[in-house]
Amino acid sequence: MTINQKIKKQIVSLLKKQKVSIKIEDLEIPPSAAMGDLALPCFELAKKLKKNPSEVAKELAEKIKPSGAVINVKNSGPYLNFLLDYFKVAELLFKEIQKQKSRYGQNKEGRGQKIMIEYSQPNTHKEFHVGHLRNVCIGSSLVNVYKACGYKVIPANYIGDTGAHVAKTLWYLQNFTNESDLAKIENKGEFLGNAYAQAVKKNSENQNYKQQAQEILKNLEEGDFQLVELWQKTRKWSLEQFERIYQELGVNFDVYFYESEEEKAGKKMLQKLLKYPFIKKSEGAIIADLSKYDLGVLVLLRKDGTALYGLKDIPLAVKKFKNHKVKKSLYVMDIRQSQYLKQVFKILELMGFKKIMIHVPYEFVQLKSGVISSRTGNVVTYNEVKAAALAKVINETRQRHPKWPEKKVNDTAMAIVIAALKFGMLKSSNNKIITFDIDEALDVNGMTGPYLQYTYARLNSIFVKSRKTCLGAKINLDYKNLATNIEKELVSDLLNYPQVILETQKTNDPSALTHYLYKLAQDFNTFYHKLPVIKAAAEVQAARFELLKAIKQVLSNGMELLGLTVLEEM
Ligand code: ARG
Repeated sequence: MTINQKIKKQIVSLLKKQKVSIKIEDLEIPPSAAMGDLALPCFELAKKLKKNPSEVAKELAEKIKPSGAVINVKNSGPYLNFLLDYFKVAELLFKEIQKQKSRYGQNKEGRGQKIMIEYSQPNTHKEFHVGHLRNVCIGSSLVNVYKACGYKVIPANYIGDTGAHVAKTLWYLQNFTNESDLAKIENKGEFLGNAYAQAVKKNSENQNYKQQAQEILKNLEEGDFQLVELWQKTRKWSLEQFERIYQELGVNFDVYFYESEEEKAGKKMLQKLLKYPFIKKSEGAIIADLSKYDLGVLVLLRKDGTALYGLKDIPLAVKKFKNHKVKKSLYVMDIRQSQYLKQVFKILELMGFKKIMIHVPYEFVQLKSGVISSRTGNVVTYNEVKAAALAKVINETRQRHPKWPEKKVNDTAMAIVIAALKFGMLKSSNNKIITFDIDEALDVNGMTGPYLQYTYARLNSIFVKSRKTCLGAKINLDYKNLATNIEKELVSDLLNYPQVILETQKTNDPSALTHYLYKLAQDFNTFYHKLPVIKAAAEVQAARFELLKAIKQVLSNGMELLGLTVLEEM
């Protein structure tokens, strides 16, 4: 049990003595530690007692006798606030953090549960733009957070390597490029993205073109030799590009699924599907009629025999549970696919496939210049954004550290850029649209990844300096020396960390963790500007060092869950 939980249990039992039963989860973190360290909102309780919430809070505050880690109980309006003996808490907490190190904050909620998290799922023959990055960042940090909560997690990718978009690009390549041009192209993945945008543009201008592209899809699915060859060659270009990107971002998948495989599996299932009354033939196409459930109609097969997206998701969902024995299957997918996923889940349910499948929706990313769309060509590719940012950061890093070897400059700059991109994608809740601006994301004074890295490096430098100045002194630790409000706030931050991890897992929204880390970093920086460490009196210094050690550990634990590299120097 963590200190956090132990203290909460104490509070639960203090209330029990007053014949009030609450759950640990009912306790909240007040907006500032000055108000209290934990709070119980009394609204529910008041309803049960048929009293006014403020009255209930006031009565309880008067009756409860503080004991254990709780030294004071007050009410503030309808909230019952508990103040902790934070010297005591600090002592227990620092010991715990030093003992658990990188495991501090983890829990065992998910013990014994295997889950699959599907994320990223890019389409081949299309551009990988900053919008796709949001998905990767949410998915990969959720993988880490679920692992920290004791789950066994299988990260899975589902590559969109067939379908209308692929056909359009292939159509364009066949009609508007030639073999020798293709051979010369350097960044082939990126080239395909442009080809797709061109294809869409031409298709929208000319009805014949549209038909030609649809014809290509049909021939491709039927296994036309020449097309399949072109498809395989170009598909590989995209896959290689994706691997480069994943490597840069430091994300991994245990399993890869492909739309092209599920297309075949889906077509094989068709006869079986047609036995269900809600699967119908309609004007030559095959549809799932879900109007009875207010979910409209989902077309599975076009009348020319080509497969739609939904036909592939049905066998995929089954495969995930069958082949990997997972208990839960999470889909990190654009919020605009909510209705679609509901349809897929309903179809599976009607087929008797009753499993836990959860959509983790997120809003889209736009640029100051408007919505990103590979259809309209308003795209900022991942590669473009990264390259421009990297050039800038390499320059700045070199100026700050003229003596650093080239490799150190480059590695540091890359870590900063990736942290900026990731944090920029994670700091807004999943349900908010992001207007992405790379300069904002890089700002070391803003709510950014580089700000956390900078804070970590500053913490580190204190320890480096201290090795030179304060060696050897053996002082008795007395946490009464951590007497200021800002130190108290920091202790309270550290105490809250395990709860934030749990909350992030429960809501599938890493922004809670970004906000937490930003606050921790800000509180530390306030401390740093106001209070001396190395120049403080010996006993004060010793206590502050313990506090800083704990902050450094928690900051690095949290950054790791978000996939941000910590830097010893910046
Ligand atoms: N590849 C699709 C796209 O880019 C997303 C796939 C989502 N996953 C799924 N199981 N349907 O739009």
